[in-house]
Amino acid sequence: MTKGETLFLQKVAASFGNACHSYVAAARLQQQVALEALALMPEHATGHLLDLGCGPGWIHPRFANLCQQFTAVDLSAGMLAKAASQQLAAAYVQADAEQLPLPDASVDKVFSSLMLQWCANPHAALSHIARVLTPGGQAVLTTLVAGSLLELQQAFACVDDKQHVNHFLPVNQLKATASRLNGMSWQYIERSYTLYYPDVQSLARELKALGANQVAGRQQQGLTGKGYWQKLAMAYDKTRTSEGLPATYQVLQLVGVKDGS
Ligand SMILES: C[S@@+](CC[C@H](N)C(=O)[O-])C[C@H]1O[C@@H](n2cnc3c(N)ncnc32)[C@H](O)[C@@H]1O
Repeated sequence: MTKGETLFLQKVAASFGNACHSYVAAARLQQQVALEALALMPEHATGHLLDLGCGPGWIHPRFANLCQQFTAVDLSAGMLAKAASQQLAAAYVQADAEQLPLPDASVDKVFSSLMLQWCANPHAALSHIARVLTPGGQAVLTTLVAGSLLELQQAFACVDDKQHVNHFLPVNQLKATASRLNGMSWQYIERSYTLYYPDVQSLARELKALGANQVAGRQQQGLTGKGYWQKLAMAYDKTRTSEGLPATYQVLQLVGVKDGS
């Protein structure tokens, strides 16, 4: 991992930590995406499940139908503490998905929703998921892919040429990365979600409340005064619909099975 990647990881952990109390109220998209992914998990209350990038653990009460016990992992100490306050998991582990400190073949199911797009090296995270699964074990993962927040990205491009929105990997690149892993078979489902906002400030506030406001490779922002926000608002307003300003998210669901059983 490069020095820049380590620094970014620390910033991501801190942002999500700061957001651990505001996250659930702001997580309209995250709840919809995770609940749809959860419906893809086999409904047997058996085995050991891993929730990778668990956030504040709002979904944990629903795991009762899906496993006998589960382990919750998150990079952010704040998020993990919030999840741990429910005392539902067998273990709460603070760790980076790219360096997962769990033994080989130690979990039967992996659930991970909207964590993978924060990894600098998704191949490393996917390799750990494959490694910790038992033969015949199943994984249901979701991640944001290219095209997400495109309206916001295009509005910023009208104001300056800096990077303000994270780079999301093209869907084909992620599929190729997962397909290259030995011992796993994957199915892929692509979904598109659009949320609406009264103004661009509301979208920015929501991203901050979620802790999803770190941008890899962003230069120092400098002062962004009223004029800057007015220009951004005017540019974004070109996309306005009767429902408000759209923010589109492209989601890839990855449903995997580990070979052998
Ligand atoms: C958008 S939230 C999703 C939380 C939850 N899964 C949900 O669906 O609401 C992303 C979570 O992934 C965690 N995360 C980000 N990068 C991570 C990494 N490299 N390893 C483990 N967790 C990570 C963040 O701390 C945050 O809690």
